[in-house]
This record gives sequence, C-alpha cells and structure tokens, in this order.
Amino acid sequence: MILKAKKTHLKEILIIEAKLEIASWSKKSIINEIENDCSYNLVSVHSNKVSGYMFGWMIANEYHLNKIVVSKNFRRKGIAKNMIEMVSNFPNLKRIYLEVSERNRIAKNLYEGFGFTKQGHRSNYYSDGTNAKMYKLEIK
Ligand SMILES: CC(C)(COP(=O)(O)OP(=O)(O)OC[C@H]1O[C@@H](n2cnc3c(N)ncnc32)[C@H](O)[C@@H]1OP(=O)(O)O)[C@@H](O)C(=O)NCCC(=O)NCCS
Repeated sequence: MILKAKKTHLKEILIIEAKLEIASWSKKSIINEIENDCSYNLVSVHSNKVSGYMFGWMIANEYHLNKIVVSKNFRRKGIAKNMIEMVSNFPNLKRIYLEVSERNRIAKNLYEGFGFTKQGHRSNYYSDGTNAKMYKLEIK
C-alpha cells in the first residue's frame, strides 16, 4: 500500500535511513520535508511497516524527486517502481526531474528502465565529490 508520508512514519523512516549505503538525511531534514507545503512524499507500507519512501517537491506541473529508498529486505519487488508510477499519475503532471550519483548503478537502472532520459551532468555535486547525472521523465 502506498500512502502520503506523515510524521507518524518518521521513526521507521529514520531506522531505514540509518542503514543506508548512500548519504542519509538528518531527522530535522526529514521533518522539514514532511512539513514543507510543496512536498509530495510517499511511503510504501507492508503489514503496517514502512518498506520504502519517496520524497520530492511538486511545483506547478513538475515533480522534483529528491530521494527514493526501499528497505533492504523489500528490494527488487517493484516497490520503487510503484512509488514513481504513483507520482507519474498525479493529475496534470508534465515531467519529473531528479539527480543521481553517477556511481549509483542500481538507481540509474531504475530510472532508465522507467523511461527517464539523461539531461546533463553536475560535477562535484555530492559532499564526497561524486558527480551527479541529471534525469528527466516526460509524462505522456
Ligand atoms: C534504488 C532503490 C530505491 C530501488 O528500489 P527497489 O524497490 O528495489 O527497485 P524495484 O524493485 O522497483 O526495481 C526497479 C528496477 O531497478 C533496477 N534494479 C533494482 N535493483 C537492482 C539491482 N540489485 N541490480 C540491478 N538493477 C536493479 C532494475 O532495473 C529494476 O527493474 P527490474 O526488476 O524490472 O529489472 C533501492 O535499491 C534503494 O533503496 N537503494 C538505496 C537508496 C538509493 O540509492 N536511492 C536512489 C538515490 S536517492
């Protein structure tokens, strides 16, 4: 089941976040994102437990996807695809933008498999000096 993320999901999100292989967000940043008026954040829930989440900003008819995570035990079951699918069906949405580390092969597979196309490159984008690839999905 995919739901809008709420503050009640925070504790479980932080537990998943603490085990991530990519840079994690602080509790304060996650609260800010949940409370931000332009945020459209989703959680995937299985047996009342958070199995994944997606954070982003809905600005006019565009969505900027800031983070997508699936808990390690639930990966490769289509949960990330389902969350992107849900936002792509948002009424009147025209496109989705995102950046991803050029080293994140799995995430790049996810986005390219979904139909995102590369739009550019940002050098030294992440705090560890890694470059980012920019992607866009045009919604038909
Ligand atoms: C990236 C991530 C969100 C994918 O979540 P997921 O629910 O496991 O992904 P899905 O099951 O929806 O898979 C969708 C596609 O992603 C790609 N993919 C997922 N896992 C993969 C793996 N282990 N190896 C290669 N490609 C993979 C495949 O193209 C897959 O499609 P397919 O199953 O039809 O081949 C998850 O691996 C994750 O949380 N990673 C850590 C956080 C992260 O890097 N987030 C992205 C940047 S913010």
